[in-house]
Amino acid sequence: MADVAGPSTPSRKRSRWDDDEDNTPPVEKPVQKRRTKSKPPAAGDTRTPERSATPTVPPQNASSRARPHHSLFVPPRTAHPPLVPSRSVYCYERLNSIEEGSYGVVFRARDKETGDIVALKKLKLEEEKHGFPITALREINALMVCKHENVVGIREVVVGDTLTQVFIVMDFIEHDLKNLLSIMPSPFLQSEVKTLMLQLLSAVAYCHERWILHRDLKTSNLLMNNRGTIKVADFGLARRYGDPVGVGGLTQLVVTLWYRAPEILLGATTYSTAVDMWSVGCIFAELLLNEPLFQAKGEIELISMIFKLLGPPTKETWPDYNTMPLAKTMTLPAPHPAQLRQKFPYITAAGLDLLSRLLAYDPDRRISAEEALKHPYFSESPLPKHPDLFGSFPSAAAGEKRRKPDSPSAPVRAADYKLLTEFD
Ligand SMILES: Nc1ncnc2c1ncn2[C@@H]1O[C@H](COP(=O)(O)OP(=O)(O)O)[C@@H](O)[C@H]1O
Ligand SMILES: [Mg+2]
Repeated sequence: MADVAGPSTPSRKRSRWDDDEDNTPPVEKPVQKRRTKSKPPAAGDTRTPERSATPTVPPQNASSRARPHHSLFVPPRTAHPPLVPSRSVYCYERLNSIEEGSYGVVFRARDKETGDIVALKKLKLEEEKHGFPITALREINALMVCKHENVVGIREVVVGDTLTQVFIVMDFIEHDLKNLLSIMPSPFLQSEVKTLMLQLLSAVAYCHERWILHRDLKTSNLLMNNRGTIKVADFGLARRYGDPVGVGGLTQLVVTLWYRAPEILLGATTYSTAVDMWSVGCIFAELLLNEPLFQAKGEIELISMIFKLLGPPTKETWPDYNTMPLAKTMTLPAPHPAQLRQKFPYITAAGLDLLSRLLAYDPDRRISAEEALKHPYFSESPLPKHPDLFGSFPSAAAGEKRRKPDSPSAPVRAADYKLLTEFD
């Protein structure tokens, strides 16, 4: 639950940007002058080809004597996007803090130049002893790779006064789905669930096509604006799945417990896009139920909840179950059929089919995002609702409160002032 007035982590070193609300002129980071070319390289000088404006073409039959001391395969500077220093966080005026999550704190802020309202996620770097963390690099990289209507837009990365102050600047989105579900008076309609699922699936299909696993899909990482559009956020655990993995395989410390796929629970160190699809199944169920599907306190409880709802895995439903590293440590309950129908009495047969394909035990048989987009559930009545027809809700992240009927609304400036004083 976004606690906009919640305390910030005591250990967090605060930058002046964190503290100051005033409009003191920003201390701009000294902008490093880009090295200018003093003179063109001397003829035959192949030592610095990457600095020349036009790439130096290596001679066809270069003798070993003429070989430069670095690889000829280093691409020239012109092959890269221009390298420019990050802008300062003081280009933004802090408005309020939205949420302190596991990896960073998120602020709402205003771009001083354009007036745009944005969200700034401060990366947690204080405890880093080994340089810039790979997780932060992966998060930035994944956001840059996954430019899609249903993925939160990254605008830039800005820096504060110290090396530990690095912020991702994103488009500000009014809600996260977890908070929204908790304030909505009634669950989403079937037609709305379909729209949200189609958007989520199309974002996930897009990421998977680009070899990005999200690995932490859950309702608090799905943002939603007041125009009925979902944006997948928080790529803090994302990873390219085509990359070679280390000897230990992929980490099992991924995916928030309630949304974690059974293969991860059973110790698999090679897993793939199917882990995200299991999470999508849990989100689908949560949208239908208006509460999380598996609210377990620990892994053992979660596994037994899954076995209870879906029936224990069998040779048919999960042929490789016995090869899972932790399978030997499990005692399977007596076989019984899945109880999905009892749990979701109102959904159509097609809806139940999609849910059971997302929650398939066998990762190889679990439906992919691409296939799920074509599932008959989405083309049967009621059809997905147009996003423009979704209702809008007050945004807790923007400090808006639900208006009580009959009570006069506070003047906007006064409300803003309250926010500014409340949040520190
Ligand atoms: N672009 C954004 N616009 C509005 N709120 C956001 C935005 N990004 C994140 N948030 C809020 O901040 C919370 C934490 O952000 P998230 O990226 O999930 O960080 P963490 O890795 O700490 O979980 C989200 O659950 C959401 O409520
Ligand atoms: Mg998160």
